[in-house]
Amino acid sequence: MTDVDSTGSEPASLEQSFHQLTGHAPAGVWAAPGRVNLIGEHTDYNDGFVMPFALAQQVQLAGGRRNDDTWRVRTMQGDLVETFSRADLVPGMAGWQAYVAGVVWALEETGHRVGGADLVISSDVPIGAGLSSSAALECVTLAALADLFDLDVEPMTRAVLSRRAENAFVGAPTGQMDQAASTLCRKGKALFFDCRSFEFEHVPLQLEEAGLELLVLDTRTPHALVDSEYAARRESCEAAAKQLGVSALRDVTDLDEALSRLDDPVMRRRTQHVVTENARVLAAADLLRAGDLRGIAPLLDESHVSMRDQFEITVPTVDLAVETAMTAGALGARMTGGGFGGCIIALVAAGGADTVAESIGEAFASSGYRAPAHFIGRPSDGARRLR
Ligand code: GLA
Repeated sequence: MTDVDSTGSEPASLEQSFHQLTGHAPAGVWAAPGRVNLIGEHTDYNDGFVMPFALAQQVQLAGGRRNDDTWRVRTMQGDLVETFSRADLVPGMAGWQAYVAGVVWALEETGHRVGGADLVISSDVPIGAGLSSSAALECVTLAALADLFDLDVEPMTRAVLSRRAENAFVGAPTGQMDQAASTLCRKGKALFFDCRSFEFEHVPLQLEEAGLELLVLDTRTPHALVDSEYAARRESCEAAAKQLGVSALRDVTDLDEALSRLDDPVMRRRTQHVVTENARVLAAADLLRAGDLRGIAPLLDESHVSMRDQFEITVPTVDLAVETAMTAGALGARMTGGGFGGCIIALVAAGGADTVAESIGEAFASSGYRAPAHFIGRPSDGARRLR
């Protein structure tokens, strides 16, 4: 993709940037998207259900093989070049290149032989906004390396290995949702994904045909505490499952009975969120299969209230954005992603997204918050080779 920047000059394309680094053309160009989660938050690591869709915003990568065991990774934006060798492939590596190195490591760990490569990366996925820019980087790296080194890795395994890079190499204890979304999603569909069986279904999400728009609004709230709070949520869900004698909260079938057996109020609230959120994903999948897109609006609202009051992962900017979206005419709205900032989504009648975003901008200005950013979410394809 070549865009004309505000000065009117043509910025270098990925191919040009690759040529600058290596003196030759890349063997190919690949892309993997960021995602928003329509519904099903913090259910993935509880073996539950999620329903993300891939965004049009993506990480692109131009790549080529090298004749040694060195990887050179360059970003177009910051023009940073990071180099690592096989000896550096040690879990816990610092810096953004760990997402790339982690994928090499995860492939090698499962017996896939990956040689050195030059990789040039560009991205228009907002970073730190809860839109899975890191999963997109992992998934595009995997797609490129698989092609460059003729590796036979089917899509679900790609998603699993990309997550392994994030969990075991980078060290973030996330679930399977983001890499599954970035790898498996399809244009015009949401991905209904069972995080236990890894079965999935592409359910129709044709917003335009339904006269709807999906506003994605980044509150631009710094993600304070996100890592420690995420890990704490995960631990309390696991502790609750253990106390209930089930392998994961997914297995709770009678919520009231389960709540009566948990004496810790925090564990009760966490359990209540996960169990009801799983039910909301199932209900949303039924509605989308039936083509009733508007029908999911109340589920989005319930999901938000549950994240706010039971799972306690929202922050004042996010709550204000959701409340304002609703008073400005959205049909339904919720925070999306891991929480403690990041983005909200709002289902809006076609043509209304910008007005809703403007109202949120005004509400933020009156509260002294930083101006939010927004775009319209368009369900797009997962990781693929572009050329
Ligand atoms: C982050 C994690 C996902 C998931 C969500 C919450 O995005 O990476 O695995 O747990 O938070 O739904």
